[in-house]
Amino acid sequence: MRWCKFIKFIFMVVLSTTIFTVTVHKAPYAHLKKLVNNSMVEHLFHEEPCACMERCLAASDDEWFTKRFRKDVPPVLALNNSDLPNHIFKWWQSLQSKSKANYSEVIKDLFSVIPGEERYRDTGPSRCRTCAVVGNSGNLLGSYYGPVIDNHDFVFRMNKAPVQGYEKDVGSRTTHRIMYPESATHLDNSTHLVLLPFKILDIQWITSALTDGSIKRTRFKVIDKLQATRDKVMVMHPVFMHYVHNTWLHIRSRRSYPSTGFLVLIFAMHICDEVNVFGFGANSKGTWHHYFENTPKRFKRTGKHSGGIERETILELQERKLIDLYTGW
Ligand SMILES: *[C@@H]1O[C@H](CO)[C@@H](O)[C@H](O)[C@H]1NC(C)=O
Ligand SMILES: *[C@@H]1O[C@H](CO)[C@@H](O)[C@H](O)[C@H]1NC(C)=O
Ligand SMILES: *[C@@H]1O[C@H](CO)[C@@H](O)[C@H](O)[C@H]1NC(C)=O
Repeated sequence: MRWCKFIKFIFMVVLSTTIFTVTVHKAPYAHLKKLVNNSMVEHLFHEEPCACMERCLAASDDEWFTKRFRKDVPPVLALNNSDLPNHIFKWWQSLQSKSKANYSEVIKDLFSVIPGEERYRDTGPSRCRTCAVVGNSGNLLGSYYGPVIDNHDFVFRMNKAPVQGYEKDVGSRTTHRIMYPESATHLDNSTHLVLLPFKILDIQWITSALTDGSIKRTRFKVIDKLQATRDKVMVMHPVFMHYVHNTWLHIRSRRSYPSTGFLVLIFAMHICDEVNVFGFGANSKGTWHHYFENTPKRFKRTGKHSGGIERETILELQERKLIDLYTGW
């Protein structure tokens, strides 16, 4: 066990140094294909479902995985996929207090502000999209994962998780920030916002927050005018949230729903070819806290979430080599 950790450490150090000094091409197959437009090469790579060397997640034939993974579930709301089947609408309504808003009106308003095309459904033999899902766990502190995280195509962060001052451990790039109104923070112009709509008001809020700022509170006072690039804003599909709830976690209770971290992990698995996970779980002393808060708490705060099943599922994904879990030292 200890040797494993040591070897992993050496590997990480070498990898970090390499990344600092040379630019590693992330998709060697794609690169080759671009260089050599030769039918033999074409033939060699013909069967590849994606251009990654290590894995093509969505193409895995692991039985445990294929029983859960549904490629056809849309991760992001779009103009032409926004209909909600009745049972899902009901489930979604049960998460929130009653709203009188007309869903199709709310969707129409939303897509008058943000782009309505479908996104990220571009898997194929020439794509190798690597993604880092960065949680907020204190196990990131002292990890020196920063350069490794930054070397991914997409870097997902959640809520208000800061990078400034923590770059060596958490990296400095954020391509996507996942949040909901109550956890929102202003974004720079290179970051995509992925809104988690736990209620219909959350969708009304993002429309408002990008325009006149008329909605000032949801469950409590929230940012009314959000700094974000409209073209880079998207909303996770309620159908997708329901699928994570039902198919991945088999949650029966109405009062519990997937955590942000778990939703983002499954989201990443749907839009990326390779997913690596950082900053999930406790640190080596079994302490749970956020890397940006210096008051470790010695208890598991899973709140309304199904922490146990989520943890087991993440370990299973790691065991089956579908994701790589970086847990610090
Ligand atoms: C939505 O439109 C895209 C093209 O923008 C198309 O590829 C896709 O199949 C459509 N999806 C549905 C559910 O109609
Ligand atoms: C919602 O608004 C649409 C028009 O955009 C209308 O056709 C529909 O009947 C309304 N639904 C409800 C439940 O009021
Ligand atoms: C994005 O922001 C940076 C600095 O914050 C600025 O220099 C740049 O021009 C902006 N880019 C666009 C496309 O607005």
